[in-house]
Amino acid sequence: MNAAPTIRLARPEDEGKVTRLLDEAFASPGRESLLWSMLRQEYPEYDPSLAFVAERSEQELEAFLLVHPRTLWIRGVEVPCGVLSPFAVAPRARGEGIGARMVQSALAACAGRFDLVVMLGEPRYFGRFGFSRAFGQSRVRARLPKDLATLAGEGWRAIGGADLQTCRDLYERSYAGVSGTERRTLAAVDWDSRAQRTHTLVRERDGKVGAYARFHIGTSITVAECGAQRPEDTESLLGFVARLALEHARESCEVLVPRRHPLVRSLLRAGGELAAHDMTGAVLAWCPSPQRLLARVLSGEPALAAHTRQSWEAFDLELPGGSCRVEPTLRGPRVVESATPALTSIALRADRVVGWLTGLEPLREALANAGDDASCEGAPFRALDRLLPELESFWSWSPLYDVVGW
Ligand SMILES: CC(C)(COP(=O)(O)OP(=O)(O)OC[C@H]1O[C@@H](n2cnc3c(N)ncnc32)[C@H](O)[C@@H]1OP(=O)(O)O)[C@@H](O)C(=O)NCCC(=O)NCCS
Repeated sequence: MNAAPTIRLARPEDEGKVTRLLDEAFASPGRESLLWSMLRQEYPEYDPSLAFVAERSEQELEAFLLVHPRTLWIRGVEVPCGVLSPFAVAPRARGEGIGARMVQSALAACAGRFDLVVMLGEPRYFGRFGFSRAFGQSRVRARLPKDLATLAGEGWRAIGGADLQTCRDLYERSYAGVSGTERRTLAAVDWDSRAQRTHTLVRERDGKVGAYARFHIGTSITVAECGAQRPEDTESLLGFVARLALEHARESCEVLVPRRHPLVRSLLRAGGELAAHDMTGAVLAWCPSPQRLLARVLSGEPALAAHTRQSWEAFDLELPGGSCRVEPTLRGPRVVESATPALTSIALRADRVVGWLTGLEPLREALANAGDDASCEGAPFRALDRLLPELESFWSWSPLYDVVGW
């Protein structure tokens, strides 16, 4: 039996060893390793205290795991999150529990700092650490009529540094109200990924950028993200997608968009079909303190709070990790600790609480299988369901993750 490796923070001089490890573990030379060096060198919020390696000898590493800080809007509130990627154990060292130790070390470092740690992963593996489904993913697949390509109009060109602020505005406008939207920085890597066959173009008209699209040219055309200012810019985007398929001789195109994105209606009118994305089910999150996340998302609903503050009474809620009391105040709902629940009426299971808080699942479904049918009735249930209704939930990740592959 091999000795347990030491887990320590990664150092810049580990780069060669990390590259060898990730290339071998993912069988994808130069992809995950490029992500680490791009994040380290170009992403302003990169935090070296969240990059871990496991080693037994000076020659090689057994494992690498990175969490990097981002901010997501969850139910309209800015929430500090970590994104866990890349993570791998060397093939020769798998099955010894090294992966589990790496994840536990990383989550311990994240607990006081983030409200969620988000990732794309296998639920059967990551479920054991408390990860569960957090966001949905949707896409529209279409064979767009060729004549739509003329709608694209003139003025499409590569994105440049001067466009970033406008693109951020277009992004926030187009993804507004979607729980899981990332806050983008103005770093170039947050807009143009440098992944092979992936590009970001903007459309400039009368000296102003009114639309942008990030897309990948593979067996079909995949638009990973897009934004538009006015209805005519949305039509131009539709034409642009049709033009891409036409120019690259692809039969169909796929647009990854939340259901409420302005382009969706145009795509559906043009014959597209809206469906869950293949990645649905793999978008996982771990929440160190459901009470803290609940308090944060409830604090961001002033309009709803004003509407509901007189119409419900305090109730207790049993969440994984402890109980809390939700009470109406003049400033809106407030979450307070409640060591001895007197009014307990709702208990949520650990694997359903994150999906409910992010908006993926309505309360009734989140309560399913809790073994307490009565908890779906009564005033506390109605109040909580109204305070945190089901909402469109879609994690839009930064373009810099495109380098790990399409
Ligand atoms: C996933 C990975 C990190 C696990 O590392 P590890 O050190 O072997 O993990 P552990 O020793 O802690 O756990 C091993 C157990 O997890 C199981 N497991 C490993 N990968 C799994 C997966 N994708 N799905 C379900 N179970 C999995 C193993 O079968 C084993 O089960 P057992 O305990 O019942 O025998 C490693 O397999 C790896 O690097 N894979 C390639 C890269 C990857 O998928 N990274 C994660 C997503 S970014």
